Amino acid sequence: MKVLAILYRGGAAAKEEPRLLGTLENELGLRQYLESQGHEFLVSDDKEGANSFFEKHIADAEVLITTPFHPGYLTAELFKKAKNLKICITAGVGSDHIDLNAAVEHQVQVLEVSGSNVVSVAEHVMMNILLLVRNFVPAHEMIERGDWQVSDIARNAFDLEGKVIGTIGAGRIGYRVLQRLVPFNPKELVYYDYAALPEQAAKAVGARRIEDLKDFVSQCDVITVNAPLHEGTRNLINAELLSHFKKGAWLVNTARGAICDKDAVAAALKSGQLRGYAGDVWDVQPAPRDHVWRKMKNPLGGGNGMVPHYSGTTLDAQARYAAGTKQILDNYLKNKDQEPGNIIIGIGKYATKAYGQR
Ligand code: NAI
Repeated sequence: MKVLAILYRGGAAAKEEPRLLGTLENELGLRQYLESQGHEFLVSDDKEGANSFFEKHIADAEVLITTPFHPGYLTAELFKKAKNLKICITAGVGSDHIDLNAAVEHQVQVLEVSGSNVVSVAEHVMMNILLLVRNFVPAHEMIERGDWQVSDIARNAFDLEGKVIGTIGAGRIGYRVLQRLVPFNPKELVYYDYAALPEQAAKAVGARRIEDLKDFVSQCDVITVNAPLHEGTRNLINAELLSHFKKGAWLVNTARGAICDKDAVAAALKSGQLRGYAGDVWDVQPAPRDHVWRKMKNPLGGGNGMVPHYSGTTLDAQARYAAGTKQILDNYLKNKDQEPGNIIIGIGKYATKAYGQR
């Protein structure tokens, strides 16, 4: 069996830190496991273009392992070439880099390690909300520059207490964010999701559901995006929707870059319609050097909390998603049932409701 994995290059860090399991160098800890059973295991970070390692070897691989951090984009076009492909495993959470409708059509299963990094992301969301609301990044930059002018920072710093905070998507991550927000004494917690939270769960965090998206965004001081990328969420946050946001709201997106229109977000930040934008996900990854989100700022020169995609790839998370990937592979090899929560696409059909209402 030929197993192809597309992973990011970890460089010196991956050699020094073996717990960086999701890298090209450390191969999710799978080489010995696979080779001892006589399987061929090919790993590369070379994923773009017709001559890439990815496109060459997808032609006869039976198993494809990818991560959302350095996504091997398996398009509908490439699916046609992937004649031998049976299963795609996402080492992590979020399989939008695989054309899921094409996977249904070609009877290729798609599984992810559900839950493996949801706490990691929820913690990052909390950090992002706080660093925007409290105007942290410009304050730290001021210190590094050798300056000290408290008023320049304090003029745009607020408390989280007393704010209305909402999540788009109240699944594993969204709900964990709501739980973590409760002790901050928000004015109100709200959510927008086509799936209502179970009554007990909503009650436990005191979250109110708002069913109309414009109504939802117009009520929030802080919005965090925690929904998968699919046809119904691509470009969801665009210039029109941003015009319904409260003036000066903060937006955190650790879900997927393409859920937001990048230029509309940059323009809203520049005009002050948004006071801040933070997250770790970009519409293509690695993000181009001139991506507008790298340097965009609000009128006071702050409000940018962007980092590379790492919220879900802490060392703790890597241990969990590497173990989960191996378990999925093992189930596949032994023809055992997969954990139902891990199945995104079963053979010929969507197995989850999270990637859009169908
Ligand atoms: P989940 O499947 O537990 O929850 C997703 C929720 O979003 C579901 O409740 C679903 O009904 C809702 N949803 C789907 N479409 C929606 C729409 N149009 N409007 C409102 N709600 C919608 O997924 P989980 O584990 O919470 O992860 C969510 C996403 O976060 C992943 O799909 C992935 O894209 C992203 N993620 C990012 C990571 C990072 O490192 N930045 C790591 C892990 C996940």
